[in-house]
Amino acid sequence: MGRLSVPEIQARKGREPIVALTAYDVVSARLAEEAGVDLLLIGDSAAMVVLGHEDTLPITMEEMLTFSRAVARGSERALLVGDLPFLSYQTGPVEAIRNAGRFLKEGGCQAVKMEGGQEVAEIVAAVVRAGIPVLGHIGLTPQRASALGGYRVQGRDLEGARKLLADAEALVEAGVFALLLECVPAELSRIITQRVPVPTIGIGAGPHCDGQILVFHDVVGLWPRFRPKFVRSYAELAPEIVRALRNYAQDVRAGNFPGPEESFSLSEEVLKALTE
Ligand code: KIV
Ligand code: NA
Repeated sequence: MGRLSVPEIQARKGREPIVALTAYDVVSARLAEEAGVDLLLIGDSAAMVVLGHEDTLPITMEEMLTFSRAVARGSERALLVGDLPFLSYQTGPVEAIRNAGRFLKEGGCQAVKMEGGQEVAEIVAAVVRAGIPVLGHIGLTPQRASALGGYRVQGRDLEGARKLLADAEALVEAGVFALLLECVPAELSRIITQRVPVPTIGIGAGPHCDGQILVFHDVVGLWPRFRPKFVRSYAELAPEIVRALRNYAQDVRAGNFPGPEESFSLSEEVLKALTE
């Protein structure tokens, strides 16, 4: 069957919603595939939910590529998008093309994602010209959280809303195949979705986008530390897993694990010869 292609994802606009999710390893990739997810983003959120950093800034290209290869091994059908980490593209088009290209050459991805609007449009255009499909990402861009003054909804006032519209247009001009909108008021997402010819994929961006994306750990309740307003958790796996692990610990301590059915045994003959 092969993977969904960039044009197939694009053709979904206004027709069929795009279901996107993050994945970081073979387990999350396989589970997402089995659920029929269309697009898997190897997100730099791995810095937080896998590596335990406070924010997304510290993760490296090498770490991202390791996660990316694992997701590629664990999936067959989803379009894979590699999230370019902080400082892997902001320095200029040459470094951006090299690092974006590594997601395709070494990471098993078909596309990359870059944060930023007008300020990165030239770099995005250069990467697209190199033949690497780019998913734009505007609104709340966590790699710029410090400059934005924290993690907050973007484009709420007229000036901010106009800036986001201009960002969207600049990225379309630069050739993005789709646009991720993060923490944007629903009405503004609707306007952007109507104005741009490419699909919009929202996270905290309301129901009018052409697709939705969430972080794997949030959807299944593996990340109980902090859950933003825009998350819907469809399971609470963390307490369920802790329950299982507690039972395991209890059985080991009580001598109830392993039992005969979980043990290997010698034949009576060998046992007898051995103990005679
Ligand atoms: O890294 C990430 O998880 C993201 C989200 C927008 C899905 O970029
Ligand atoms: Na990200």
